[in-house]
Amino acid sequence: TAPHLIAPSLLAADFARLGEEVAAIESAGADWLHLDVMDGHFVPNISFGPAVVQALRPHSRLPFDVHLMIEPVDPYLEAFAKAGADHITIHAEAGPHLHRSLQAIRALGVKAGVSLCPATPPEALSQVLDMVDLILVMSVNPGFGGQKFLHGQVGKIRTLREMINKTGRQIRLAVDGGIDTETAPVAVAAGADVLIAGSAVYGRDDYAAAIRALRSA
Ligand code: DX5
Ligand code: ZN
Repeated sequence: TAPHLIAPSLLAADFARLGEEVAAIESAGADWLHLDVMDGHFVPNISFGPAVVQALRPHSRLPFDVHLMIEPVDPYLEAFAKAGADHITIHAEAGPHLHRSLQAIRALGVKAGVSLCPATPPEALSQVLDMVDLILVMSVNPGFGGQKFLHGQVGKIRTLREMINKTGRQIRLAVDGGIDTETAPVAVAAGADVLIAGSAVYGRDDYAAAIRALRSA
């Protein structure tokens, strides 16, 4: 099987030095940069918006993997695409019209992702598998970095891997929350091929060593 990708989450970076932090993670060998957008409404925390994504774009050639934890989402999709997002991931729980939102993302010419909170079953995606390029399983409740991996989500990763394989399409399966060298092998064994990690990369002194450790985990 192909090696899994490592997507460090900027949420755990030094917000006073974001440009340098983005450049440093590229030099350290990251595959994607994960950007967590929080609105204080869908999730109980506020992070940053499209202006910050746009300001960071010239500091990196990495794919920008934008995770929107916002509701509503449709009014902001174009702004994130214009800001330089390569992937836009929305939450299945963040509105009544997931299908329409995915159509809107694809119409903007960026890759479309859907994320599921811990309480949402994998079947929530059964009718949109032909419209997604990326599925993101939350292994913590969204809103904060540094939380403990919820082992109850491993079965969902396995089920989604089977669902993806049946489509015959190239759909990435990402896991986000509490990923470290202990939980990374569990997620990969269940079928994840993208590991999103905040504390376990930006929370370390040596980013390159932290990325290598997750890669070989
Ligand atoms: C949480 C975010 C995650 C977070 C992960 O809502 O979606 O991307 O930054 O942080 P760690 O790896 O510290 O759990
Ligand atoms: Zn995230």
